[in-house]
Amino acid sequence: MAELNTTSSAILLLALLVFSPADAAFDIADYGAKSDGRTDSTKSLLSAWEAACGSAAPATVHVPAGYFLVRQVTFEGPCKSSKVTFQIDGNLVAPDDFGGAGEWIVFHHVDGVSVYGGTIDGRGSTLWACKAAGHGCPGGASSLVFRNSKNVVISGLTSLNSELYHIVIDDCEGVTVQGVKITAPGNSPNTDGIHVQQSSHVTITSVGIKTGDDCISIGPGTTNLWIEQVNCGPGHGISIGSLGKGNDEEGVENVTVKTAVFTGTENGLRIKTWGRPSDGFVKGVVFEHAVMQNVQNPIIIDQNYCPNHEGCPDQNSGIKISGVTYNDIHGSSASQVAVNFDCSATSPCTGIGLQDIKLTYGSSPAESSCKHAGGSASGFVEPPSCL
Ligand SMILES: *[C@@H]1O[C@H](CO)[C@@H](O)[C@H](O)[C@H]1NC(C)=O
Repeated sequence: MAELNTTSSAILLLALLVFSPADAAFDIADYGAKSDGRTDSTKSLLSAWEAACGSAAPATVHVPAGYFLVRQVTFEGPCKSSKVTFQIDGNLVAPDDFGGAGEWIVFHHVDGVSVYGGTIDGRGSTLWACKAAGHGCPGGASSLVFRNSKNVVISGLTSLNSELYHIVIDDCEGVTVQGVKITAPGNSPNTDGIHVQQSSHVTITSVGIKTGDDCISIGPGTTNLWIEQVNCGPGHGISIGSLGKGNDEEGVENVTVKTAVFTGTENGLRIKTWGRPSDGFVKGVVFEHAVMQNVQNPIIIDQNYCPNHEGCPDQNSGIKISGVTYNDIHGSSASQVAVNFDCSATSPCTGIGLQDIKLTYGSSPAESSCKHAGGSASGFVEPPSCL
């Protein structure tokens, strides 16, 4: 059987090479993967990847329709060609116990890899139930991680029920995430939708995220990030931070968040830093064209984050926040303070701009709150600015 498969895949390959010499395709079924959702297909996936990654011509790894059980797997680069495609027509499903794996599907050191279509299912419910019961739970795993990589595309992918973060972009340059759908229950812990850190030129467009933590979280060292067309909720909103957990931290610079709808989320547009010393910063942020639907904290800067009240002497954040503009933000707040700038006493926020803001709170007036925040308002601003 194995011989037959090898022979037939060799013939298939030969045919592909003869008829379309520019592209080679490697179907995981030809490497023994079974679409029954139970048979471990990790090795087949890895073999198909190794063939594609080792191909001198642009190559495709194909995941056909069906359900493929895949355990922790790392796709290592660099690859021979500058174009390797993952075409997923079916579903990759995680085992229901990752233990301490930390990460499920990892791409490392790749350049020019694209992932199209398909569904990945992290099957996080066992871990969430354990966490809810609150005793000795395993660490869990983030579902899809790109690390130390360049020129990455993730398009049309659906990510379900990750144990931890759904998609992580770490230490990358040039990443496009488009048309991605992310779904986990609103009460699932630490299931951030897309987390970006230490990365530059990341573009996230046309994404729908329903999850139990931040829809998009932006960590230290993120620069030139563009986010456009986001539907978020349930979830904790789009958050720059948490930043400043450690003392030496790279800053966040040049972030645009444009055209986003938040529905029933804990936050809308948030910047969040630990209340402790740090040499990090946030500068050059534009938030524009956002709609808030019953959002707890539509606009918030919170520089007093310190969950267990440990290691936050005087609660003074060292993170300097400057040049943050909010333009055309409207809708409804689920709490009275719809605009809340709670900045650091030792590093006050500067250059905050508000323009064309209209946030309501039921039939009562919404309010703004400013601590150590400087800047200006223009156009229509409701609740009235306290800058
Ligand atoms: C800011 O980032 C965008 C991409 O999001 C980029 O096009 C632009 O050139 C960057 N601006 C600066 C000043 O680097």
